[in-house]
Amino acid sequence: MVKYIVFLLLSIMSFACWGQAQKVSLIPEPNQVEINSGDFIFSESTRLHYPAKVGKTALLLNDFLFANYGISLKNGAAGKNSIQLTVDNSMKPEAYCLIIDHKGISIRGGEAGIFYGTQTLLQLISKNNSGQLILPYVVIKDEPRFAYRGLMMDVGRYFFSEEYIKQFIDLMAYYKLNTFHWHLTEDGGWRIEIKKYPELTKKGAWRSSTQKTRDPNNQDRIPHGGFYTQEQVKSIIQYAADRQVTIIPEIEMPGHAMAALSVFPELSCTAGPFAVPLQWSIKDEIFCAGNEKTFEFLEDVLTEIIDLFPSEYIHIGGDEAPKKRWKECEKCQSLIKQEKLKDEHELQSYFIQRIEKFINSKGKKIIGWDEILEGGLAPNATVMSWRGEKGGIDAASMEHNVIMSPNSYLYFDYYQSLDRANEPFNIGGYLPLSKVYNYEPFTPQITKEQQKYIKGVQGNIWMEYIHSEAMVYYMTYPRALALAEIGWSSASKKDYNSFLNRLPPILAELDRRGIPFRIPEPAGLNKVSVEDGKAIIDLIPLVEGARIYYTTDGSDPSVTGKLYTGPLMLPLKVSGIHVNCILVLPSGRRSGIYTVTDES
Ligand code: ACM
Ligand code: ZN
Repeated sequence: MVKYIVFLLLSIMSFACWGQAQKVSLIPEPNQVEINSGDFIFSESTRLHYPAKVGKTALLLNDFLFANYGISLKNGAAGKNSIQLTVDNSMKPEAYCLIIDHKGISIRGGEAGIFYGTQTLLQLISKNNSGQLILPYVVIKDEPRFAYRGLMMDVGRYFFSEEYIKQFIDLMAYYKLNTFHWHLTEDGGWRIEIKKYPELTKKGAWRSSTQKTRDPNNQDRIPHGGFYTQEQVKSIIQYAADRQVTIIPEIEMPGHAMAALSVFPELSCTAGPFAVPLQWSIKDEIFCAGNEKTFEFLEDVLTEIIDLFPSEYIHIGGDEAPKKRWKECEKCQSLIKQEKLKDEHELQSYFIQRIEKFINSKGKKIIGWDEILEGGLAPNATVMSWRGEKGGIDAASMEHNVIMSPNSYLYFDYYQSLDRANEPFNIGGYLPLSKVYNYEPFTPQITKEQQKYIKGVQGNIWMEYIHSEAMVYYMTYPRALALAEIGWSSASKKDYNSFLNRLPPILAELDRRGIPFRIPEPAGLNKVSVEDGKAIIDLIPLVEGARIYYTTDGSDPSVTGKLYTGPLMLPLKVSGIHVNCILVLPSGRRSGIYTVTDES
């Protein structure tokens, strides 16, 4: 009995400490945080003071405050009750210093840094017991670990609206992710208006049906498609730029090109005809490398892309291009002879190098998936390592820049649980939050001198089976929060338990904002301890304010079932422990069913 009371007290104390530690819960974790005693009380009477240069950031700060708290700050003089933004170009562009104390709030930094300072500020807002908005007194000095912190969205396979793309980018920026890699062309659809070739979107942006499961014949028979006009693209680029997000467009070549080839079959080795395919398999039909018209077409497309996108980089794909057609094609074979190439891999290298020269001539650089290493890497190319880390390691050893985006850690289309029956159907794989979080881009195979070539990290969201906005969010969050921390926080700050401690208020905020992220399993789900012949299960929700309902007989829990109020102490039975639970968020949204297992 005494032991039980001690245990209970310890549990209550640990909850209390948990509450205190949350006072400052930031993701990604800043470089240096000093928390001081005292709070800044924040209200409609607080004033904003800033130079015109960061007017957009000030406007966005106000938009957020209005949308989330119904208040809007007027401009005014700097003082005790103000937020002062100061541009300091002697600081690194993304670095900032945020001070909140009795003298007011100050954010100093480069232009991007000031934006990030405001995002940190917004994460710090909470309400005190009298319902006032408060910010803790802090001194935060912060800058990112990596320059490139990205998410890729595959709108080629599934189209998402302009409004959704903007909302997605807005959320990225809130967690200091700064690169949106927009996969705009695919077998399953061409998604960007090209003025010179209107047929590309008139025809190539549409298909008659979508494959729904692994069975290629399981088709929904619902026409699907869409594309972004150049006016929409400009609007999205500006929206992203206002939030310090760069958009890197991807035009796939030589593979994943069926949508384009369905419009221009003469650019394939076999001349078609083709339709925009209804199945997700890798296609043998790719752009013919031996046809000059292929390069004319791609250069025309790239010219419009380069004119539209201010990004320093253009992604040219390069992945998953089977060489079957090139082996059988007279034109491709005669080019191989003419250029004295060894094989079709060298032909792909010729292809990419030729495109690189064109893109370089326009003052831009290329990024390609790691297949661009095969047959010889284009001289100035950045490699995006996706088939694990090998491509990145090889490219860094050749002194090329690298973005680490390995499918072994950062493919957000992979499952988040081994219990697939309780997850939305998807492509496969298993990348739980913990595995994503613990990814370290400086793998030991990269030497200290080569680390400078690792420019950053990216999570990829491939849409073969992701067909709704809600599912994009479900697959992306909270894993993108782990990515944000990999990309931003210094290696010495990375700590999964600390991350889990900071998650609950962060996820509660996402819940309030209506983002349907995947509700994580409660902490403690995989740990059963035994004491005095009892099995003890101590669950902590990772969303603040979430309730847990559970059953102990293996049945499915529901909100009319038992509400979890503290550690369970169950009699040990030969038949084992059969605890199932669900979480219900303050918004009313429910998790899938999670089962207690002992992995300790
Ligand atoms: C890829 O996942 N095919 C880059
Ligand atoms: Zn050919």
